[in-house]
Amino acid sequence: MVSSLKWVKQDSAKVVGNYAVNLIKACIEKKPDAVIAFPTGKTPLPMYEALRACTNIPWEETHLFQLDEYCLPSSGEMAFESFHAYLQRELLPVANGQFYPLSSYIQNPQQYDAELKRLGGLDMVILGIGTNGHIAFNEPGTDVDSQTRCVSLSESTRLANFGDAPGANLPTHAVTMGMSTILSAKEILLLATGTSKKEITERCLRSTDSPSHQYPASWLKTHHHVTIITDF
Ligand code: GLP
Repeated sequence: MVSSLKWVKQDSAKVVGNYAVNLIKACIEKKPDAVIAFPTGKTPLPMYEALRACTNIPWEETHLFQLDEYCLPSSGEMAFESFHAYLQRELLPVANGQFYPLSSYIQNPQQYDAELKRLGGLDMVILGIGTNGHIAFNEPGTDVDSQTRCVSLSESTRLANFGDAPGANLPTHAVTMGMSTILSAKEILLLATGTSKKEITERCLRSTDSPSHQYPASWLKTHHHVTIITDF
């Protein structure tokens, strides 16, 4: 298949972050009420640092969505950080647009897609990639037509995200934007840094294989405006 992915190789994770910030800024300058979905994880940390340092992005009219969120325990101490708390620390101190916490939609996830539709759809989605090829929490086996919904987390993802954290009260489920929700965005950025992401990123996106349910990120090859920003 002929893919129109744009690959950008940078020298370091820090420069990957700077590059992403320029694209986010351009998106908002072009459309001040842009609708953007933001990721969590280690990969985007340099991007958030660069975003906080960038004082001339007009965030006021933007609509800020989460890619995914854990289904949080209703009681007891949390041995992990919610993605809302992560974004409150990394993004929201500087981005003063309207924020839509996914935790408010856990009981009714399809309402998150309805909200996006009401706003005219996603202008940009920023993604990381899991070592098993997941994007957001769309694990291997995910249907390309999937919408925002509740999913169970794979063991490999739980291990990657929680490591040796004490097992009790760690989430087994999450809510994630679906593959079709992500692919409906006008523009997609995928950030992948570090040697642990090289093989899976290339397998999903550089190979000439057709997209497959086994590797959710491989469906990005079917999108018309994807920029993959890497340090490898
Ligand atoms: C998590 C998130 C993804 C993220 C991925 C990679 O499971 N749901 O949105 O892209 O892990 O995270 P990291 O950047 O920490 O490797």
